[in-house]
Amino acid sequence: MFHDRVAVVTGAGSPRGIGWAIARLLHERGARVALTDVIEQAAIDEAAAAIGPNVVALRMDVTDSSAVNLIMAEVAGCLGPVDILINNAGVDSGGGAFLQTRLSDWQHAWSVNVMGIVHGCQAVLPDMVRRGRGAIVNVSSLAGLQASGGYGAYATTKHAVTGLTKTLALEFAPKGIRVNAICPGFIDTDLNEAHSRARKTPRAVMERLAPLGRIGDAAEVAEVAVFLASDAASYITGANIPVAGGLTGGL
Ligand SMILES: NC(=O)c1ccc[n+]([C@@H]2O[C@H](COP(=O)([O-])OP(=O)(O)OC[C@H]3O[C@@H](n4cnc5c(N)ncnc54)[C@H](O)[C@@H]3O)[C@@H](O)[C@H]2O)c1
Repeated sequence: MFHDRVAVVTGAGSPRGIGWAIARLLHERGARVALTDVIEQAAIDEAAAAIGPNVVALRMDVTDSSAVNLIMAEVAGCLGPVDILINNAGVDSGGGAFLQTRLSDWQHAWSVNVMGIVHGCQAVLPDMVRRGRGAIVNVSSLAGLQASGGYGAYATTKHAVTGLTKTLALEFAPKGIRVNAICPGFIDTDLNEAHSRARKTPRAVMERLAPLGRIGDAAEVAEVAVFLASDAASYITGANIPVAGGLTGGL
């Protein structure tokens, strides 16, 4: 499916995470994959090796635009031009209620969750435009589609991802480039566990809230992201697709 494609996944260094699951599935379906994260190089190497021998492991902090440009050029040099960018790196915002959220928490969430995507897109889009093809998938959140009180900084950044996704989709559709986002609900990862502890939302509550009656698995999110990155989604751009066990349904 992806045999002639090169893919970069950001924030993919945790084998329990959504980014790693996406990188694994892209690799399984034939893509040449660069797995990147801000964590220690040894941990990134380990995460890449757990996928397969040919996965390139690179340390990349998405908040650092120069580093992102350098790493994307390095990927193009060793694997070929980037066809697929999965902007997955993200952080919970810390804080909680508006008046308890420190400015530094707002700034950190904004620099990773929003500017990280801006940096990645700025680095790969000029070449995608030259080649007349490319697919970008942003990992947003259900919190990018609807609000929940006491979660303002994170929800604000993810709403920005929704807007950015729609804007990029419109601007680059005429160039043959598709830009979509997935909006996960409660997914069983380290980030979700930390969120559950910090917000005192036990797993059982999350399971009850989701109409499908359970928390989602990273592999279930990966299926949707990989579909959007593939030619099977050739007529989809600007979509923000919930992968949330029915949580968007209402009633
Ligand atoms: N797990 C959920 O319930 C859930 C729900 C909605 C959205 N999401 C989103 O899914 C994405 C992946 O999260 P996850 O749940 O797999 O958690 P995770 O913590 O496993 O993944 C996030 C990854 O981003 C990396 N990262 C953080 N700052 C970075 C930076 N500056 N540069 C590069 N990498 C950085 C982390 O090291 C980590 O590996 C995030 O964007 C998150 O907001 C998760």
